[in-house]
Amino acid sequence: MKAVVVSEYGGPEVLRLVDVPEPHAGRGQIRMRVRAATVNPSDTVLRAGAMDSMLDSLLAPPYRPGNEAAGVVDEIGPGAETDLSIGDRVMAMVVPYMPPGGAYAEYLVLDPRQVAAAPAGSSHAEASTIPANGLTVQLAIDLLSLAAGDWLAVTGAAGAVGGYTVQLAKAIGLRVVADAAPADENLVRSLGADLIVSRGVGVAERIREAVPGGVTGLVDAAVIGSEVLPAIRPGGQLAMVRFADMAGAPSMEDHGDITVHEVFVPDYVHERDKLDALRVRAETGGLTMRVAAEYPASQAAEAHRRLEAGGVRGRLVLTF
Ligand SMILES: NC(=O)c1ccc[n+]([C@@H]2O[C@H](COP(=O)([O-])OP(=O)(O)OC[C@H]3O[C@@H](n4cnc5c(N)ncnc54)[C@H](OP(=O)(O)O)[C@@H]3O)[C@@H](O)[C@H]2O)c1
Repeated sequence: MKAVVVSEYGGPEVLRLVDVPEPHAGRGQIRMRVRAATVNPSDTVLRAGAMDSMLDSLLAPPYRPGNEAAGVVDEIGPGAETDLSIGDRVMAMVVPYMPPGGAYAEYLVLDPRQVAAAPAGSSHAEASTIPANGLTVQLAIDLLSLAAGDWLAVTGAAGAVGGYTVQLAKAIGLRVVADAAPADENLVRSLGADLIVSRGVGVAERIREAVPGGVTGLVDAAVIGSEVLPAIRPGGQLAMVRFADMAGAPSMEDHGDITVHEVFVPDYVHERDKLDALRVRAETGGLTMRVAAEYPASQAAEAHRRLEAGGVRGRLVLTF
């Protein structure tokens, strides 16, 4: 089968479409014929070598990026605990540093707990945008455990994690203040933010002005770091999506009495019921699947270049 791999770390040019052995569903497993796999910021982190210690301990090169995919069930191994059937359209979350590697491949052999039906009426590309970032946001919301009516602030609200955070937070009755560049204000408002402040330097102070006393929780999807702390009220909480031991992580040394949660989405890789609940939200209009562009897998390098250039709204998707 074809897969996009990284044999040596580096820039987008190191991504290669190669032939690798085709996997088959073993006992208890499902195989997906992948049709779409998203390009996420963490795929560029893996490609550049900043996850090498995690990769080296569990896999041998070449490494395969990719955190989520959508496609069709085409094999079900004996004893697999699933209500899915061959031919069903599905989506799945994948952990790229665990065997057999990431989602940039024609076939993925999966634990059935990683797989849920794709939203009815969605394209493969649309469905592929849900699992990793939807589960990331669900985990952040579960960790924060806020009460209906509480104020949640969201940075990076125009992005995948930020956008889903705004939508899922509103769905559980939170009030949301989100940052946005002028060009993204309509988008962020359409996702449901109650208040919008302009993004960039001083965002914490603007959030605090918008919500006097400070917000109860904050999801820092823009990975700003400790500069956002003044937006949070005393005793409040912060959900970080990039943590201390990851390359590029912002410092978070002195957070006083604010509780800091590290959101690590692999913790939810087997949370099939939560993934299925995201499907239902997407089907009922509560989660907007945003695809910026589709690239054939052979153009993975171009997709990485475009993501790293910044300014992409919606997800870039590789097709297989
Ligand atoms: N810990 C986990 O388990 C986990 C899981 C999923 C994702 N993540 C991480 O979560 C982060 C967000 O992922 P994503 O998929 O949402 O990325 P994304 O779609 O690229 O969104 C990030 C958004 O933040 C905006 N942004 C950048 N700098 C900003 C700033 N200083 N102030 C306000 N907004 C800013 C970006 O705008 P521009 O395009 O204009 O720069 C973009 O709209 C990434 O670092 C990713 O690796 C972590």
